Amino acid sequence: MTEILVLYYSRNGSTAAMARQVCRGVESVRGVQARLRSVPPVAAVTTVAAPPVPEEGAPYVESRDLRECAGLILGSPTRFGNMAAPLKYFIDSTSDLWLSGALAGKPAAVFTSTGTLHGGQESTLLSMMLPLLHHGMLLLGLPYTEQELSTTTAGGTPYGASHVSGVGAKPRPPLKEELNLCVALGKRVAEVALKLQS
Ligand SMILES: Cc1cc2nc3c(=O)[nH]c(=O)nc-3n(C[C@H](O)[C@H](O)[C@H](O)COP(=O)(O)O)c2cc1C
Repeated sequence: MTEILVLYYSRNGSTAAMARQVCRGVESVRGVQARLRSVPPVAAVTTVAAPPVPEEGAPYVESRDLRECAGLILGSPTRFGNMAAPLKYFIDSTSDLWLSGALAGKPAAVFTSTGTLHGGQESTLLSMMLPLLHHGMLLLGLPYTEQELSTTTAGGTPYGASHVSGVGAKPRPPLKEELNLCVALGKRVAEVALKLQS
């Protein structure tokens, strides 16, 4: 079975909700399975060691997840127009995979959630692509043949799927268009991974 790694960080649940839809898209392709993983939070000063298994959400990623999967879809909340530190911290630990070229030639895509509509979705998505290019991955976005890319008034970009959670006390769940574009992204990476393998 071909597997696609859907790897995310999420503090308040929005990026996690997107990740589940991306997995649905991956698994809509016959012969492809999604492997959902997260990264632990980081702190400037470590007071207690984090448990090896998170209390909620997907298991934490291991290096072998990246090696074993045929493609990667990376998700992060926007933090000051950039990816969140826990995800960057994990990526910075992948030098061994870079040295061995373990990810070179595999398809990859990215998704993000922001608080505001113009709060840096594209810059975050592009920032997430940079290390993937260094790893030699083949980056995929969303094509405008996805009708909802043209009609959405919230998230959804050609650089990857996105969502606007709002700035209220309660995050706004992803809208139909935002969810469908997450599914489309997962499906696209799964289809390309299968083609590259055959
Ligand atoms: C430190 C910090 C920086 C943030 N920076 C931005 C930003 O630059 N633009 C934006 O629109 N939202 C920003 N946000 C809001 C988050 O991106 C938004 O709430 C997102 O939906 C959170 O995703 P999550 O529920 O997966 O944690 C920031 C939040 C935090 C905590």
